[in-house]
Amino acid sequence: MKAEVPNLGKVPQHVAIIMDGNGRWAKQRGLPRIKGHEEGAQSVLAVLKAAKKAGVKYLTLYAFSTENWIRPKDEVEGLMKLLGFFLEKHSREFLKNKIRLRVMGQIERLPADLRQKLETVMEKSAKDYEHTLIVALSYGSRLEIAEAARAIARKAASGELDPETVNEETVAQHLYLPDVPDPELLIRTSGEMRLSNFLLWQLSYAELYVTDIFWPDFREKEFLQALEAFNQRGRRYGGVVTQ
Ligand code: FPP
Repeated sequence: MKAEVPNLGKVPQHVAIIMDGNGRWAKQRGLPRIKGHEEGAQSVLAVLKAAKKAGVKYLTLYAFSTENWIRPKDEVEGLMKLLGFFLEKHSREFLKNKIRLRVMGQIERLPADLRQKLETVMEKSAKDYEHTLIVALSYGSRLEIAEAARAIARKAASGELDPETVNEETVAQHLYLPDVPDPELLIRTSGEMRLSNFLLWQLSYAELYVTDIFWPDFREKEFLQALEAFNQRGRRYGGVVTQ
């Protein structure tokens, strides 16, 4: 771990990242898109280490959206293979470093061998951990909220739940990972000013940090810069600045 952690002051306990720009990074170099994803996987490792060192408890990465299935077959297959390879290569390191792996999204749509690998690591890493890496895979936030609504409606129809008691907390409790606190910081690389159907409910009060840097170039230094920027923002939750 090379990155020096300056005095960061207030560190967010949960950081979410839209890892964008792998394709453009590759194109700039005349390389196939998958090379951008491969280099992006190195950024995942670097940012994971930096986040752990800074004391961030939860890191959520948007690795594959429900919309990404319409990408060319080669790219989808390449990404799935890369994820499997990444797990094979680094899962032991995760366990040693007390990093728990969790997945949010339609895990049932993933190739069976990848699903198997994910389930093994998720199970092993859930026993003794200090930090959590959440990978959003075949994830869409509107779908997540719709599924929560369906689960709540089912409970109301069966009499398990009184519809009049449904409030924000009820919805939050029916999302994919109800025990995980909301992210306080969202980082998006490669300059786009969009949420792209990512954690729409959970990001309600998050600080947004957008950088022009492509994800494969986003490493320890860039992550620490984002934490510093977060530290300089006053968070009000609709009230007045108290700091
Ligand atoms: C967005 O860039 C990136 C993705 C859709 C995939 C992200 C996946 C990785 C970084 C692979 C490794 C992940 C893990 C968790 C090990 P883009 O392809 O949309 O780039 P573009 O907008 O420049 O075309």
